[in-house]
Amino acid sequence: MEKVNFVLVGAGRAGMVHARNLVHYIPEANLCALVDVNLEQARKSAEEVGVSKYYASFEEALEREHFEAVCIASLTFTHREIIEKAASVRKHIFCEKPLAQTKEEAEKIQEVVKKTGIKFQIGFMRRYDPEIRKAWEMVREGKIGELVLIKSTGRGPGLPPAWIWDRSKSGGMLAEVSSHDIDSMLWFAGQKPGTIFLMARNFKGQEAREKFPDFYDHYVLTVNFQNGPMGVVDGGCPVGYAYDARIEILGTEGMIRVGETDIPGLTWYTLDKKSIRETQSSWRNRFKEGYLEEMKSFIRCIIKDEKPSPSLEDGLRVVRVVETAHQSLEMGKPVLFEGEW
Ligand SMILES: NC(=O)c1ccc[n+]([C@@H]2O[C@H](COP(=O)([O-])OP(=O)(O)OC[C@H]3O[C@@H](n4cnc5c(N)ncnc54)[C@H](O)[C@@H]3O)[C@@H](O)[C@H]2O)c1
Repeated sequence: MEKVNFVLVGAGRAGMVHARNLVHYIPEANLCALVDVNLEQARKSAEEVGVSKYYASFEEALEREHFEAVCIASLTFTHREIIEKAASVRKHIFCEKPLAQTKEEAEKIQEVVKKTGIKFQIGFMRRYDPEIRKAWEMVREGKIGELVLIKSTGRGPGLPPAWIWDRSKSGGMLAEVSSHDIDSMLWFAGQKPGTIFLMARNFKGQEAREKFPDFYDHYVLTVNFQNGPMGVVDGGCPVGYAYDARIEILGTEGMIRVGETDIPGLTWYTLDKKSIRETQSSWRNRFKEGYLEEMKSFIRCIIKDEKPSPSLEDGLRVVRVVETAHQSLEMGKPVLFEGEW
């Protein structure tokens, strides 16, 4: 196979990042059609990337298009249904994070996909960010000795769309905003978590809190790896000042830090002795390379018949950590992570 034919399901914010990459930057890909339950959104998005076919349902695309792979970037609570349909006809699957809104849903997905032998990759694009990848390699080479602490910060400038406020649909803010941070922490630690503790509060999202009493907008998650480092993920939105994604890895023989709040480049020095720099404003720009490289890798794995990474199991691990963290939040104390690894 020289080219992989794709259908995109969910032509919104994340979906269009993938659509643009598939159409403009990956010669081994062919985007046949876009699907969105909002047909007008599908039409506009298809027009933007110059694709002539668009549908309001995945079933229609399955009936009418010949393709090998599906890119799923619809709302989190719809992932399972689309994955099951795609897996039943052996389409390879790239699925956006989080894999699902609950552990139960994610485990059902795993059951279905396992039986098929299709390729499956979860959208943890930070693993393809050149700096984070380099940091991971340095840690594996022992450049900073034994791991002591992994700290990942993920803050967004605005409040996410309203469907995310509902934990039963999105998995909550921890899943929506910080799945990437949790995955990075697990990837660097390379082992099963021990105790997990989530502290979360609502500082800004009054409207969301009125509709969903369990809504929180800022949080700190701590993970004590049994025979390894300590982990901290802090996150929140809307912070207003930037899209702020940073990771710091402390070892017994040094420290590695990745990510800047500022955009490197121009600094404006003013006469009142201030210096002004622009901050990162969007995940799309900060992880531009990561989104492109993750998709190229998925396509390479289909063409060369290799196992994609990060895997469905990586997606499932993050969902399990989120669910344990929410148990800890409800109990107000650390909870031992239980379950397979
Ligand atoms: N990897 C990342 O950094 C990243 C960034 C943003 C969002 N995401 C994830 O991507 C997914 C989509 O989030 P978003 O912010 O792009 O949302 P969005 O609302 O911008 O877009 C989602 C689109 O999916 C459509 N849709 C909903 N149900 C559908 C269905 N059953 N079939 C087809 N289309 C359907 C909606 O109409 C909408 O146009 C979520 O799971 C989210 O967590 C990942």
